[in-house]
Amino acid sequence: MKATVLVVFLMFFSNLSYTQTALPLKSKSMLSGKKVYDMYCQACHQADGNGVPRLNPPLVGTVYVTGSKTRLIDIVLKGLTDPLEINGEEYNNPMAAHSFLTDQQIADVLTYIRNSFGNKAGAISVAEVKKQRAKK
Ligand code: HEC
Repeated sequence: MKATVLVVFLMFFSNLSYTQTALPLKSKSMLSGKKVYDMYCQACHQADGNGVPRLNPPLVGTVYVTGSKTRLIDIVLKGLTDPLEINGEEYNNPMAAHSFLTDQQIADVLTYIRNSFGNKAGAISVAEVKKQRAKK
């Protein structure tokens, strides 16, 4: 009996946290974005997006994730070598380019990180990735 009440309670709260994000986790791009994330990003940035202090920066609330779309797309297409300071920690390891991912995979994974870990930012479309890739 108590367990049932707890389960109902937890379901209620997990639903609440979904409605707080810009996009529901169940949407198609979020689901496929999570798959790309788990395969290509999670090892460094971790399942909760918090990264590893001084090695791999967090993706939680950073201006790189929730700010400029073109800069974010470029990070995946070209990698990143500039030293960064995030939440008072310095990051100097380079991130390799992931340009082998398709435009669809990049759009999905970036839409996913912009709407996960407490982030809330607009989705990124395939057309936006395609346009940015053509600029190189
Ligand atoms: C091998 C480890 C590794 C993998 C895999 C990796 N990253 Fe990174 N990422 C880094 C490092 C290290 C930096 C910091 C680079 C710098 O300081 O110039 C970084 C920086 C970033 C940044 C900008 C800084 C921030 O924290 O907001 C974003 C956004 C990002 N990565 C997204 C991704 C995405 C999306 C993927 C998967 C497609 C991915 N990364 C895969 C290691 C990795």
